[in-house]
Formats: sequence, C-alpha cells, structure tokens
Amino acid sequence: RAWRAQVITLFPEAFPGTLGLSLTGKALKDGLWQLNTVPLRAFGEGKHRNVDDTPAGGGAGMVLRPDVMGAAIETARATQHAGAPLVYLSPRGRPFTQGMARDLATRPGITLICGRFEGLDQRVIDHFNIAEVSIGDYVLTGGEIAAQVMLDAIVRLLPGVLGNAESAEEESFSDGLLEHPQYTRPAEWQGRAIPPVLLSGNHGAVETWRRAESEKLTQERRPDLWQAHLGTED
Ligand code: ADE
Repeated sequence: RAWRAQVITLFPEAFPGTLGLSLTGKALKDGLWQLNTVPLRAFGEGKHRNVDDTPAGGGAGMVLRPDVMGAAIETARATQHAGAPLVYLSPRGRPFTQGMARDLATRPGITLICGRFEGLDQRVIDHFNIAEVSIGDYVLTGGEIAAQVMLDAIVRLLPGVLGNAESAEEESFSDGLLEHPQYTRPAEWQGRAIPPVLLSGNHGAVETWRRAESEKLTQERRPDLWQAHLGTED
C-alpha cells in the first residue's frame, strides 16, 4: 500500500510536472508513492461541462459549483486509502510548514483540491470538513503549483525516497535554523577563497563555524525563526 496522492484539478496535464523528475520521479517509478489526477471538467454540468457560476451576492469572478466539486470528491474518495486527509489549496489556508509535511508523510496519502477563479463554494468545505492550506502569503492563479509544492515536500520524507545523507540533512531544519553556506572546488574563484576553516581538516572547528553561520543567518533573515529557536532551548 503505497502512499497515495490524489489531485482534483481542471488541469490534470500539469501533473506530474517536476514531481516526475529527479528524486520524486524515481520514487514514483519505483512505486514508493502513487499519483492520481481527478479531472474536474469530467464532472461538469451540461454539454459544456460547466464547473463554475457567478458568486451569490454579486461581485467579480466565478465560484466552483458545490455539486460538481462534490461529485469529484466522492469519486476521489472511492479510490483513496481510508484516513487520507482532504486538503484545499488556498491563500486563506493555514500556512504549510515542514512540521505539517512530516505529519502528512505518516498518513496513508492525501487528496488535494486545486481551485481556480474566486474559489470553492463554502458548503463543500463545510460538508467534507476540508482543511485549507496556503503555501505562502501571495496569490497564485490556481492551486496546481501549490499542490506540487506540498507533494514535493511530503514525498521526499516518505521512507526510502531519500538516501541516508539527505535524510540526516532534514534534521538541520528541524532545529529551526537556516542552513549554513556551502562551498566546493575550486579553492579560489573570481578572487574569492573558500573559508579556510572548511579546508583545515578540523571537524570540530568546521561544526562550530557552521553553527555560528546558521545562527547569524537566521538572526538576520528570519527573526521569527530565531525567536522560536530561542524558545526551544533549555
Ligand atoms: N492558491 C492560490 N494561491 C495560493 C497559495 N498562496 N497557497 C495555496 N494555494 C493557493
């Protein structure tokens, strides 16, 4: 029983996208996870397969019809593992975090709902008790890219997807600090040298330097993460 992603979308051709490449693509081919798209258009009403209508109360844009989305969700649910959460990608959602990705990777799968236009009829959200998740404070034209962001972050945490070296690296975000800078050969490039400590062979000194760089970077760029990090120290 592989971890199963389902995506309800008007643009099934947007998938797998980059999820079909590199690590996530290899894992998909190896059967470590599955990806099913549910084409919303197929559930549309009438000859033109209409999926949306004007907002009640007036205003700009269009709203996805609850009957159409409801039918798509029921169909998705029939082929999803029991206990897989239903998530609607929306800028109104709770912010997506690494902690959320870690939790979602322990579930049997996920069903993602991609909106377009002004959004989803609120009754569908209430009826199916759908969780709303945002990938950040900006507005995309639709949920497809946001769904791919979530899936990429979750799939790399599934057992067997990353090698041991990379899984250890995930730990460094778990301490709540930003990553230290990295360097590789050549030792000098455009008049810039690799920090000598990294070539010293002194592993203790390297660790101390990296930790200091991580802390400095976090303080400068992410005072919010820095405060949270301080709060988790004994
Ligand atoms: N759909 C449109 N904007 C979005 C965002 N920021 N996060 C998730 N889904 C979205």
